[in-house]
Amino acid sequence: MIKDDLKRDIIYYFKKQYDLGMLNTFEGNITVRIPDSENFLVTPTQQDKEKITPDMILEVDKNGNLVEESKWKPSSELGMHLKIYELRPDISAVVHNHSTYATAFALVGRPISNEMAEGYMYYGGDIPVCPYGRPGTPAVYAHFEKYFLDKDKDVVLLANHGLVAAGKSVSQAFSKAEAVEKLAQIVIASEALGPDLPLSAIEKEKLLEVYRARKD
Ligand code: 13P
Repeated sequence: MIKDDLKRDIIYYFKKQYDLGMLNTFEGNITVRIPDSENFLVTPTQQDKEKITPDMILEVDKNGNLVEESKWKPSSELGMHLKIYELRPDISAVVHNHSTYATAFALVGRPISNEMAEGYMYYGGDIPVCPYGRPGTPAVYAHFEKYFLDKDKDVVLLANHGLVAAGKSVSQAFSKAEAVEKLAQIVIASEALGPDLPLSAIEKEKLLEVYRARKD
């Protein structure tokens, strides 16, 4: 059954992020769109990421209402996830975490700009920072139009908070979050060595064309 497969995916990528050190037991959440439905699956709030079981994953409608009663409560960031689905019908999964190096950029409010060719081909260039909004409130996604309506931007840093990555599947959203964490590490390491070799604007545009073609 599709929902069971989606729940398996969520559990797998939650644990994978935990194992990779991309979140601690209290951080992070995942949602996925249920195909041929207006509903979504969402991880429960404040549960140990290693111990999530399928029955703890909740189904909600597009307004965030629970489809069935449960002793678990949906993620406090459900509104943020639903906002991305509202803005981007092409998106089917959202991963939020506080991975260390990407979140370091979010804490200083600095976009992850990069001169790495793959940075353009895989994540559409620079990773922007959305202004601060208190976690778990609508303020966190008050500015999302500006970022997610640009279809080149599937990963956005949340100032003073973490990052959110969107994709066509949980696996794809996770891969983008993982790639951006690695990019953040590379940028910090390269800055310790000296200035980057710049890519030309024309080359960046060509690399972005590769990115857009891959996304479609
Ligand atoms: P939840 O446990 O409510 O999903 O929140 C975790 C988190 O990362 C908040 O930003």
